[in-house]
Amino acid sequence: MTDTELLREKILNLKEKKKAIILAHNYQREEVQDIADYTGDSLELSRTAASVECEVIVFCGVNFMAESASILSPEKTVILPEITACCPMADMITTSGARNIKTHFPGFEYTGGYTYPAEFTLGEIKKLHPGVPVVTYVNTTADVKAESDICCTSANGVKIVESLDTEKVICVPDKNLSAWIAKNTEKEVIAWDGFCHVHERVSAVDVDRARQRYPGALLIAHPECRMEVLEKADHVTSTSGMLRFAKSSDAREFIIGTETGLLYKLGKDNPEKKFYPLRKDMVCPNMKKTSLQSVLNALETMTYKIKVPEEVRIPAKKALDRMLEVK
Ligand code: 13P
Ligand code: SF4
Repeated sequence: MTDTELLREKILNLKEKKKAIILAHNYQREEVQDIADYTGDSLELSRTAASVECEVIVFCGVNFMAESASILSPEKTVILPEITACCPMADMITTSGARNIKTHFPGFEYTGGYTYPAEFTLGEIKKLHPGVPVVTYVNTTADVKAESDICCTSANGVKIVESLDTEKVICVPDKNLSAWIAKNTEKEVIAWDGFCHVHERVSAVDVDRARQRYPGALLIAHPECRMEVLEKADHVTSTSGMLRFAKSSDAREFIIGTETGLLYKLGKDNPEKKFYPLRKDMVCPNMKKTSLQSVLNALETMTYKIKVPEEVRIPAKKALDRMLEVK
């Protein structure tokens, strides 16, 4: 038996003993995706965490995802195998002492640029725009969700904004997702200035290079990419949306504009098709922290437990539930 097979066997035995299920985000390492009961994008994993019957959820992803699972299922023990697996974008907005905002998208006018002096808190932004609902990307901490009206993911951002009955919305924290939403709605979007460093680093020049290298391949891009990239894409969608698009498309070759972990499942699901990363360095170091050994440690020691305090959990759950109710 190889080391990997041994680790797998130990995990599967312990998982059964502890009545645990393993959820893994689409960006996780290949071997972690392989051991998971469910893989998916943020929306699918939130839904699964809320509905699956088990005592323990081992969440292979980053901390905001485990927090969301705990918010939705407080009766379950939620374990994050790597306690330092965080999302730098989620940390770009806090409820107190937060960063500067001010990317406005009145009907889509992208101003670009970003700086982060600690200038505005989410509370202050809300005061500046009384009555304007706050739509919060799930890539945020529980406290930020608790101060929001409704959550969204990369899969449903436009739909969520459209479901609200106001002409203006505040979208935090990803300026790129917000720009994408603004482009696809009549509403005025007031956006925060955050970004995902994995997607933000890609430019239109990278797209041109990839297109030259792989003529005939379709480009699928994640809405966390800059608008100059999204405008050149054939399709813009969440990670699981990319899996569905690649499967149903007649095209044989695809350039993938998101974290490279997705290429594993794309290749597995479509052995006859070819997938190329838009840039090879689209790698999220936090998503890669979790290994089979950390999953085993997590089950053996039941660490690290993620539990959101009730005073934060209840309002945060309202924002998540409101999102999950939008069909
Ligand atoms: P999705 O899988 O929901 O598209 O999310 C992308 C992401 O960056 C999660 O950290
Ligand atoms: Fe955060 Fe980007 Fe990593 Fe997702 S890929 S966890 S948004 S830093």
